[in-house]
Order: sequence, then structure tokens, then C-alpha cells
Amino acid sequence: MKKRAAAKPLSENKHLLRWVEKMADLCRPDSVHWVDGSPAENAALCAQMVAAGTFIKLNQKLWPGSYYARSDATDVARVEDRTFICSYSKEAAGPTNNWVNPFEMRKKLRGLFAGCMAGRTMFVLPYSMGPIGSPMAQIGVQLTDSPYVVVNMRIMARIGRPVFAEIDRGEKRVVPCMHSVGAPLAKGQQDVAWPCNQDKYIVHFPEMREIWSYGSGYGGNALLGKKCFALRIASNMARDEGWMAEHMLILGVEDPLGEKTYVAAAFPSACGKTNFAMMIPPAPFKQKGWKIWTVGDDIAWIKPDAHGRLHAINPEAGFFGVAPGTSQKTNPNAMAALAKNTIFTNVALTPEGGVWWEGMTDAPPAECVDWQGNRWTPAIAKATGAKAAHPNARFTAPAAQCPTIDPAWENPEGVPLSAFIFGGRRATTMPLVYQAFNWSAGVYTGATMGSEMTAAAAGTIGKVRRDPMAMLPFCGYHMGDYFRHWISMQKKLSETPRIFHVNWFRKDADGKFLWPGFSENMRVLKWIVDRARGRALGRETPIGWVPRHADLDWTGLDFPPEKFEALQAVDRAAWRAEVIGHEELFLDLHDRLPKELIFERQLLICRM
Ligand code: OXD
Ligand code: MN
Repeated sequence: MKKRAAAKPLSENKHLLRWVEKMADLCRPDSVHWVDGSPAENAALCAQMVAAGTFIKLNQKLWPGSYYARSDATDVARVEDRTFICSYSKEAAGPTNNWVNPFEMRKKLRGLFAGCMAGRTMFVLPYSMGPIGSPMAQIGVQLTDSPYVVVNMRIMARIGRPVFAEIDRGEKRVVPCMHSVGAPLAKGQQDVAWPCNQDKYIVHFPEMREIWSYGSGYGGNALLGKKCFALRIASNMARDEGWMAEHMLILGVEDPLGEKTYVAAAFPSACGKTNFAMMIPPAPFKQKGWKIWTVGDDIAWIKPDAHGRLHAINPEAGFFGVAPGTSQKTNPNAMAALAKNTIFTNVALTPEGGVWWEGMTDAPPAECVDWQGNRWTPAIAKATGAKAAHPNARFTAPAAQCPTIDPAWENPEGVPLSAFIFGGRRATTMPLVYQAFNWSAGVYTGATMGSEMTAAAAGTIGKVRRDPMAMLPFCGYHMGDYFRHWISMQKKLSETPRIFHVNWFRKDADGKFLWPGFSENMRVLKWIVDRARGRALGRETPIGWVPRHADLDWTGLDFPPEKFEALQAVDRAAWRAEVIGHEELFLDLHDRLPKELIFERQLLICRM
């Protein structure tokens, strides 16, 4: 066997040392690098990637500390059909997850990983999800042959020496994460800018708390702290240990008295989670003293404190956001967050060494180089429909750079939650806002939430995809058990957060949006916060409590009561169809569905 370059380990943990040795023997990298997380190390890795063609250093006057990467055209998104939950039994994974027998899968992975890092460096990347030392934080070590992953993880998580120190203290279980782009190099073989493999496996072993990812360098598949650990593995830990790992943003609403109310919200992709987390209230609200503070934009870990009150942390340290559509108009706080020290992937490159994407400015640049490296102009776009940026182009930006980052965002104990908000993109049926009657009705609301599919697939526009709690691709076990866990959480609480549903996307008969959205969502959020604090009125309907026109603050917006009625209408015929739609999901999960949800469905039908 070829001799590996010796590396000085940065940990004394015997299990870790043995595992690294064993995995290096399997993957056969040329060298092993223990990641210390220092700025010097980061600079060296970025320089190395610039030399290799993976990174382009952006114009440092325009985009200080920022880099640009183009992925392989086939490696641009999460691969749900190649994502596996390999629990001991198929039943434990449930019908909404892909399952393969774990013994077979391990055999398969051993074959794929054998020699997969030849010609490359294997990085030993320790990371903490959540502030280091927080009782709610968890630790992982990712072995990866991708320097792109290391520098992205440096933004998205806490990495390096302090995490090794935490591992050496030995108080927390460490989640082992294997990652390879699956592109070994033969001796003398020239590397490509974005190595990956057409064969992809994103595999989770929930009982062993273990992750193996092969073939992709794309964030959602390769930054293993994010979807793989913080949602799929953590949802298993949370169920076993009595907490919650959710696909939710967390924000704080400061009212004119200076009191803060924190809420967590789950919306499926492309429903504006990042925008909502960083919302700027309309001018009259700002003048009165309302302010939104951002804790997180994608994932929440939520746990009851000693007094039975739910507290949440954002386990991440950065934003891995969708670039297209992000602008000074739609989300100035995100634009400020990504203005420096950011990694851009699959956006367009401008001639002056800057970045651009559809929706960033009203006027596109006269020309740029698109995400695939081709010349792009508005005329070419008009003639061919070519996009300058891939629709799933991303920015990886430090959360601390967001102007509205909450002073308590790294609080080890988290922030207290007063409400949950579920939502989706629905042209019909769903009112702008309603409050569920109680916890189990709220869990029903989250469990049955759906969102209309976008124009990507022919014939499916407007079709509602059920995406319970926005967790369909992220729940690491049977969805019926997940609902049961939600129901059972209430028993641990002295104070139950109120549960709401919102829909910013309802349309009128002419297909026009009824609600202006963006900053104006503050009006709805104020009602939610006031309801959660018991200081707002509402009206009872068959689906829950709703505000009357007079219950929202309309200062600075002319929104007539008739239009509000249309926006809030509970149309019984539409709701009949809606409830039948709920049944489709419930049929799949019937053997593990908690009876509370069956009763909630019956109650809803009776009230209709
Ligand atoms: C997602 C993401 O796919 O946050 O949900 O990237
Ligand atoms: Mn997400």
C-alpha cells in the first residue's frame, strides 16, 4: 500500500484516532489534514482552490473575502431519490423515505469508498451544530476529500480546534460523517474544477447516528452538518431524547415596549423562509418601535427548559440561501449578510469580477458569464431562455453579518418560543392566517400542510404536495411516529406555544395575488404575537381563530375590508376537497398515525 503523508492529529480521543485511521485505510487518500479552523488554514485552502480552478476570487473591492464556484452541471441540488434512511427495519423509516437494508447498504458503501480518495487529501473536519459548549449543541466529525466542503462548513458551523477540545472532554457523543466526491485520481491524472460522481448516495444510519455521503459536492448533499445531521439524524435523537429538530426559521419580534416574542416557522422550499426571518417591518411599524430580529433561517432545535418552556437554538452559523430573487428590495438584510466573506455557487460572474443573479437588480448586466461558464447577455436570454444563475444558485454567508441578527442568537440556552407558524404556497382555500384551536389541532395543521408545486414539472402546476411540517425530505424516521412525537411533546410543557397557519400566496379569480406579502407580513405577525400574548381578538371559524379586519393594524396600507374578507374566506366546498387531500397522506401513514390526528380530522369534518 502507498505510504500516506503523516499528519499530526489535533485530538487525543482514541476512538476518533482509530476511526480516522480505519477510514483512511479504506479511502486511501494521499494525505490526511486535521482541520484547525484557523483563518490561515482557510486562506490556504481558498488559494489552493483558486489554483485548481474550483474557486474564482471575486473583485475584492466589490466583494471582500468572497469567492465564486461553478459546480458540475449535474450536481446542483439535493438528490431526494438518492437519499436513504437505512434503519434496521423498513417500517421504522416509513413510507416517505427511501430504505435499503443497512447491511446491504454498508457493503455497497464499503465498495464505493474503497480507494475513493486516491490522489486527494482527506480532511478531518470537527464541527459543532449549535454554539460550542451549549447543552443543546451536538458534535460531528466529517471526513471529506473536498476542500470546498471545509471552507463552506467553516461558515455554516463552528469548526476546528475548539471542537476537538470539546471532543477530548468526552462529554458528548460524536456523529461520524463520511463524505467523498467519489472521484479518485490516478497517478498524474489532472483534476477537474468540480469533481463528483454520477452515482450518488446520501445515506443515514439512524440507530448508529452515522452519515455516509458519496458522489456529490453540492451543499445539501455534502455539508453534512445541515440536512443530514441537523434534521435527519437529529430528528431521531430528538425523538429518543424528548426534543425537536425542525425545518424552521426562528425570529424575534420586538414590540414598542421593547418586549421580544420569539416564533419558529416552517415553510416548504421557495416559500420565503429566509425573507421572513429577515423581514423589515413597514415604515409606520418601524416608527412605532416594531423590529424583527433573526435567530435562524432554516433549522431549529427546540427543547423544553427546566420550567417546561420550549427554547430554540439555530444549530447553524451561516445562511446557505437561494440567490435568485434575493435583492435590496426583497431582502436587504440578506444582501448585507452576503456582502463580504461569502461563497457564491452557480450564480453568474460579471466582467468586473462581481456576481449577479436573476432578480438581484431590475436591470441585468449588459453581459456576464453564466453558471455554466458561457457568455450570457439579456438578448441571449431572450432568444434561448438561458438563465445567468442556476435557479438553485446559493450563497454561503456568515449569520453574524446579518444586520438583524438577534443579540441572543448564540445564547447557549436558546430563546423561548411563544408560537409556531406553518405555511405553504396556496392559490386557493387557505386564508392569510388562522390560529389552530389548541396543540393537537395545531399539530394536525402542520401535519397536513401542503404547497403548490411550481412550473418545473409539466402538468403539475397548482397540484398540492403534502409536506408535513416542511419535513417530508428531512424526517429521518416514520412520519406517523414523528406526528406522535409532536403530540407527545405537549405533555412536557408548562406553557404551550400557540400554533398558526399562514398563506401569503392566495389569488383572486383573475389569478392575481390578494396579499402584497414581504414587509406587509408584519401585520399578520403582529396579530400572531398579540394572540400568543393574549392581547388580540379574533373570530372563531370551523378551521380555527381568524382576525377580523379591525383586528389587524392597517396603518400605512389601504386594504379594504371586502378584500380582506376574500383573503380570509373559509370556503366550505374547497375545504371538503382539502380534507379529502389530507386523507391521501394519512392513508400512507395509517398504521402509525396517532389517534389524536384521526379525531382532529373528524372534528374538522363535523365543524365543516
Ligand atoms: C433546502 C435548503 O433544500 O434549505 O431546504 O437548502
Ligand atoms: Mn431548508
